[in-house]
Amino acid sequence: MSNSNHTFKSWRLNKRPVGEIKNSDLSLVEEEIPQINDNEVLARTIYFSLDPTNRIWMSDVDQYMEPVEIGDIMRAGGSIAIVEESKTKDVSVGDIIQGGMHGGWQEYFIVPGNDVIKLPIETGLPLTAFISVLGFTGPTAYFGLLDIGKPQKGETVVVSAAAGAVGSIVCQIAKNKRM
Ligand SMILES: NC(=O)c1ccc[n+]([C@@H]2O[C@H](COP(=O)([O-])OP(=O)(O)OC[C@H]3O[C@@H](n4cnc5c(N)ncnc54)[C@H](OP(=O)(O)O)[C@@H]3O)[C@@H](O)[C@H]2O)c1
Repeated sequence: MSNSNHTFKSWRLNKRPVGEIKNSDLSLVEEEIPQINDNEVLARTIYFSLDPTNRIWMSDVDQYMEPVEIGDIMRAGGSIAIVEESKTKDVSVGDIIQGGMHGGWQEYFIVPGNDVIKLPIETGLPLTAFISVLGFTGPTAYFGLLDIGKPQKGETVVVSAAAGAVGSIVCQIAKNKRM
């Protein structure tokens, strides 16, 4: 992703999907990269995750978060970005940050300085780990299996979708704990 022409692309929700998502439900929009104000940061997306819950956010149904509004940039479950401009202390150009609620299906976004979450890249872990096993997926698997499932000694763990993001981690936790 580059900003050589000072524009950025984003996917916006065009229509609420009915059944399977169709190409026409989303629009790829190109617009000017916004200017940041004091105490803000401009970040360029490196990765964002596509998750099953994105489909729920597209629908105007009772759910655990507000649905994405028509015309809005699609919300991402997780994203990782690099700071390209900073007008806040403690955040420098080149810092790697978590997008949080500000990241989305977009190349650039602005984060208020007091909302910036820097990632501990000095750990040497691959960046993708921060939107997978160290993002929502790992805790979902961990607490889903151990706190909700509460497996007991002698029981067998059955994972119905073991190839998926959450399921594959559930399997690893179960193996690690010798269930
Ligand atoms: N990822 C998270 O951080 C997170 C957080 C909270 C809740 N959840 C929930 O956890 C569930 C799994 O999410 P995920 O991120 O792991 O998704 P995912 O990576 O897309 O994995 C979904 C798995 O389900 C399988 N699958 C889909 N339809 C199926 C069907 N009809 N019969 C049998 N298997 C089927 C898929 O198989 P194929 O690979 O063959 O398609 C895939 O292995 C979702 O309900 C999601 O909303 C996820």
